[in-house]
Amino acid sequence: MGFPSDFLWGAATASYQIEGAAQTHGRGECIWTRFSHTPGKVQNGDTGDAACEHYFRYQEDVALMRELGLQAYRFSISWPRVIPAGTGKINTAGLDFYDRLTDELLKAGIQPWATLYHWDLPQVLEDKGGWTNPDVVKQFADYTDLMTRQLGDRIHGWITLNEPWCSAFLGYMMGVHAPGLKDDAAAYKAAHYLLLAHGEAMPIIRRNAPQAKAGITLNLSPHVPATDSEEDAKLAQLGDGFGNRWFLDPLFKGVYPADMVEIARPALEGIDLAAVKVAAAPNDFLGINYYMRFMVTSDPTAPGGRREQFPPDAKFTEMGWEIYPQGMADMLLRVHKEYGPIDLYITENGAAFPDPAPTNGVVEDSQRVDFLKGYLAAAESAIAAGAPLKGYFVWSLLDNFEWALGYSRRFGVVHVDFKTQQRTLKRSALYYRDLIAASVAQPA
Ligand code: FCB
Repeated sequence: MGFPSDFLWGAATASYQIEGAAQTHGRGECIWTRFSHTPGKVQNGDTGDAACEHYFRYQEDVALMRELGLQAYRFSISWPRVIPAGTGKINTAGLDFYDRLTDELLKAGIQPWATLYHWDLPQVLEDKGGWTNPDVVKQFADYTDLMTRQLGDRIHGWITLNEPWCSAFLGYMMGVHAPGLKDDAAAYKAAHYLLLAHGEAMPIIRRNAPQAKAGITLNLSPHVPATDSEEDAKLAQLGDGFGNRWFLDPLFKGVYPADMVEIARPALEGIDLAAVKVAAAPNDFLGINYYMRFMVTSDPTAPGGRREQFPPDAKFTEMGWEIYPQGMADMLLRVHKEYGPIDLYITENGAAFPDPAPTNGVVEDSQRVDFLKGYLAAAESAIAAGAPLKGYFVWSLLDNFEWALGYSRRFGVVHVDFKTQQRTLKRSALYYRDLIAASVAQPA
């Protein structure tokens, strides 16, 4: 494949999904601890209490990354592991862990990329309203200050927030993620303070880590009409406004999208919408987590008057997400055109499939290999068409705790046996290793 020789190849994970050690060395409770321990919230009653035990096995995991030739590793920091009550007293054991992990990565020649918030809000803060409480902005700024002072000399890339859309809308509107609320007004408030928190954190990162790149990661999906009817076009526009522009516009233009403000108005009461201009602090890059495209058609008999409708030959992952690599290329080019110029990274892309069991020391996950081939070809074509895509992080390094679906969905390129904690490379990991090696070897 013809990727630029300085293209950055990585893999991504998140603290609550892999670390385990939930009650170890002074870690505080997070909203996912609470949510997963609430009966009926997570499939099979799974929790992240043990997960991949990465907290204890990080050296083995970094060794695996090295074996795969990864150039970068995107992990997230657990806020309640370093500040158990969200604010105030610091837990040195927690800080030490991220110090050791960072140094282990550097020793292995792997760039550490850290996400400050990948969904594990300290429960103590949630008890006071969490992301709907304006105080969270200052609390996040203080936490950012602590972490960027601690690791600022060594982290190559900082990501303030992972997918604030999910934090706000899955967490506070749809109730399927922690904290499990179903309250539209709360969700828009959460979205607002997430955006403000990002904006306030950026200058702090710059000050404490002037050498590092800094940005934010959004989950972006094309919303396309299933037919050429006017209704479907409108629905797609609405889906795009809610799913993409509600964050893109504040981050790059400093304002909420006017068409969506009209629609959401009843739920926006009490929010100082103009304050969102602080979210437009300059970023070095935008991280895009790319998983799927939405295709929508109007249907008066369906809930909300709409339903998904995909082409008859469409293929899906085990999540029910359509496999359509061209959608990723389209999104990269669109963001570049409408919101650029800014460097882009795919900070997550990957798939869950019902993998076969490990045999002879490998998992033959041919579907994931095909998935990666397709999406990497799309990445390459987007670059050729002018998208400033600088790197790609596969989701995920390890099979892990997939939020409300628990351990029932495996996204890793490395298989994890959750009983024995044994790691086994999948064919996709070997494919990725070879691709990285070939890409690095090519003449500049
Ligand atoms: C993304 C999340 C990540 C993982 C993937 C499958 O939305 O950022 O933690 O769960 O989906």
